[in-house]
Formats: sequence, structure tokens, C-alpha cells
Amino acid sequence: MKLSEKKATLSFSDGSNPVEFPVYQGTVGPDVIDIRKLYGQTGMFTYDPGFLSTASCESAITYIDGDKGQLLYRGYPIEQLAVNCDFMETSYLLLNGELPNEKQKADFNHQVTYHTMVNEQMQFFLRGFRRDAHPMAIMTGLVGAMAAFYHDSTDITNPEHRHISAIRLLAKMPTLVAMTYKYSQGQPFIYPQNDLSYTGNFLRMMFATPCEDYKVNDVVERALDRIFILHADHEQNASTSTVRLCGSSGTNPFAAIAAGVACLWGPAHGGANEACLNMLEQIQANGGIAKVGEFMEQVKDKESGVRLMGFGHRVYKNYDPRAKLMQETCKEVLTALGLENDPLFKLAMELERIALEDPYFVERKLYPNVDFYSGIVQRAIGIPTSLFTAIFALARTVGWVAQWNEMISDPAYKIGRPRQLFTGEIARDVVEISKR
Ligand code: CMC
Repeated sequence: MKLSEKKATLSFSDGSNPVEFPVYQGTVGPDVIDIRKLYGQTGMFTYDPGFLSTASCESAITYIDGDKGQLLYRGYPIEQLAVNCDFMETSYLLLNGELPNEKQKADFNHQVTYHTMVNEQMQFFLRGFRRDAHPMAIMTGLVGAMAAFYHDSTDITNPEHRHISAIRLLAKMPTLVAMTYKYSQGQPFIYPQNDLSYTGNFLRMMFATPCEDYKVNDVVERALDRIFILHADHEQNASTSTVRLCGSSGTNPFAAIAAGVACLWGPAHGGANEACLNMLEQIQANGGIAKVGEFMEQVKDKESGVRLMGFGHRVYKNYDPRAKLMQETCKEVLTALGLENDPLFKLAMELERIALEDPYFVERKLYPNVDFYSGIVQRAIGIPTSLFTAIFALARTVGWVAQWNEMISDPAYKIGRPRQLFTGEIARDVVEISKR
């Protein structure tokens, strides 16, 4: 970051001395006021619940311009990556800062592919869960448990350990998600097959059975690969910030990523794709397109507590660029699978059309986000709704790892420790229980 010539001055209405703060510039995006010395100089904290105006770190990985609807990974527009690169190249880019050449790509693929198998003991750990457990509950446990199975790569001060654990996380997530699915179905686990692509291998582990061969469908493989690319990173969102905060204590990467998985589960974040599909199915069951108007009235009624899931975003105040790409993929997949007349897709298009014209959404700048169409694609592929967020976690793992690595490699990194505005009771004496 570069020091700006501009400075920020904070003055107080009670006549106390004003304080000056340095301002830093990034390569693009808003400047930041460096308030690190604020407490020391004034005895005051800043108050910013939800981090509406706070940059929590310096990062060179992902940039979002929410007003323009722009998303860049290491400077490359998501639209170009989605069309010209696969998930492995995108992962290499996020982790290393540059797109790989052919040799680098082949080496990286090889490394990831040869780490896809998980320790055989992990299946016994998995078997301890109920078969009807939510996949995200299982994934939180499995990812955290990786620290027990791969303890030889948990020294965060050792770059070699950090590299191996990054590759292990990236490589084993598809295996763990597929195992979670197979377990819920009561089907045998399918071991990875190293001559398939990252995404093709995942599809096979999900849908093959030992009884017959499984042929990866190219359109489906490409669609899922695109879902992975679009979800790979998204700047300092809630789960990434969770990974950073958890990792800032010096804990191992498996523990930090497990914290990210847990955070992602929430319906305001990664759980939105599941919630969005459930919403579409519910509208369909209640009368479909004919009832869309009624549903939208509920959404606009604050008392109802109903939100249009898959709409709105903290950062995008324009169309989420990922939603455009996802809508395109959705059409391709439905056509390839002969599902052009899918009623949920039609319903989603109608909801979008109404919302984009309705002043409630227009005034609040609420547009479809990535989750609005991704659920329809996944459902068409045969992925059950309850697994959607686990697929998101699989894809986001590379982003979490890249961000965690960036933090650990930064010589200025410190344990994260926010402060608070305390409004509770002041010091008081404990009264004996009989007198309370
Ligand atoms: N449906 C109806 N109203 C909404 C919606 C929605 N989906 N999203 C925001 N609003 C309204 C909200 O009620 C508020 O209105 P008012 O100003 O009258 O009080 C206004 O828009 C601003 O909303 P907010 O909740 O203050 O905005 P936020 O930045 O805190 O929340 C959000 C962002 C994503 C949590 C929210 O838009 C939401 O709950 N969307 C639905 C869930 C969803 O699709 N999440 C996926 C996000 S993308 C995937 C990811 O990155 O994880």
C-alpha cells in the first residue's frame, strides 16, 4: 500500500485536540484511513458492527467493485476466467498470483490429483455421524478432523507444510463432499480416479456406483467447474474473515478452514443457495408463477420476515457478475439435459423480471446474486439441495487457503482482536443466593 499525500483529521466537539491519521491508497478502490494509533492517541475505539466501513486487512487477491458489478481474481475479470480457464488454473492463480503456463498447470494438476485420496480412517470417523445429518455439519467435522489425520503438515511457520496442507485441502474436499453424499444415500464410497479432471473426478465420486461405469458428461463437468470458479474467492466475506480471524491465533490451516465451513453454512452466506432452491420449490408447490405476485408482496412486507433468497448483496449494488454467468450456465445445462421447460427456472426468471422492475428492489439496489441460479444448475445435475452449501465450501476452500496463506506470510500480521462498546452492568458485588 502507498501512503497518500492526503491526511485525515478527526476533531471533537468538546474542544479536545484534533488528531491526524495517515491515509493509504491501494492499487484500485477506496483509500483507507489508518486508525491503528487512534486508541493510543484518544483513548477511543471506532464502532463499526458488521464491518460496514472497515478494511480488516491488506490483500492482493480479489477485488470487487460493487457499484460496477466487477469481480477480479488477481486482476483478471471473472468473465474471462470463467470462459478461458478451468478451476485448476483459477486455483493456481489464487494461490500463486499468476496464471500457470502449460508445464506449471500440469505439475499443479498432478500434485492435486495425487492428494485426492483420504486416509482410510476418515471413513470410520464419518461413519459415526447419523446418516441424515446435514452435510455441512459433517463437513465442519471432517475438515477440522483433517488436522488429526494430516498432523505432519500443521506447522504454520514452515512454508513447505503450508504448501502441502493447501494442496491437501484443495485435493481432498471433493472426496470428502462426495463421501458425505454417498454416506447419506447408504451407498459405498467411490475412490478417486487420477486420470479424470478435478471436476470430472468429483462427479464420478458422487454419481458412480461399483455396479456400473460412469461416463462424465462434458456439459455437466464444465458447468460444475464454472460453479467452482465463480465461488472460488470473494474478498473479505464472512467466512473468509472467519478463516483469517481463526487462523490469526496461529492455529493450523485445517482448523481455520473448518471455521470457514461453519460460517459459510448460514443462510445469509453460503446457505443462501439451499434456501433459494427451497424457496423456489415452495412457491412452485403453492401455485407457481401465478402466485409470484403474492410472494413478492410478502417479501416487501418487513413484518413477514420473508426475503427473496438469492437476491441482494453487501457489496454488489449492481448485477452480481457471477449471477450473469450462472444464468448462462443454467440455460446450457437445462438444454443439454433436455430440461428446457424446467418450472423452477421459469419461476426464477419471472421473479427476477418482477424484482428488477419493482421500486422496492430498484431503490435498494437489490439484484440477483450468484446463488439465485446456481441451485437450479446443481439440482439439474442431480445434486441434492442439502449438499449445495458443501459444494460452495469445496469451491471456496482455495480462496480461504490463499487468504490464510497471505495473512500468515505477512510479516505485519497480528492476532485479530476486536474491541467493544460495553453497555452491560458495571462492577457490582455478588449477593448471597438466598437474598437474590
Ligand atoms: N429480500 C428482500 N429485501 C432485502 C433483501 C432480500 N433478499 N436483501 C436486502 N433486503 C432489504 C433489507 O430488508 C433492507 O431494507 P431496508 O433498508 O428497508 O431495511 C435493505 O434491503 C438492505 O438490506 P441489508 O440486510 O441491510 O443488507 P446487507 O448488506 O446487510 O445484507 C444480504 C446483504 C446478502 C445478507 C441480504 O441481501 C440478504 O439477506 N439476501 C438474501 C440472502 C442471500 O441471497 N445471500 C447470498 C449472498 S451472495 C453469496 C455469498 O457471498 O455468500
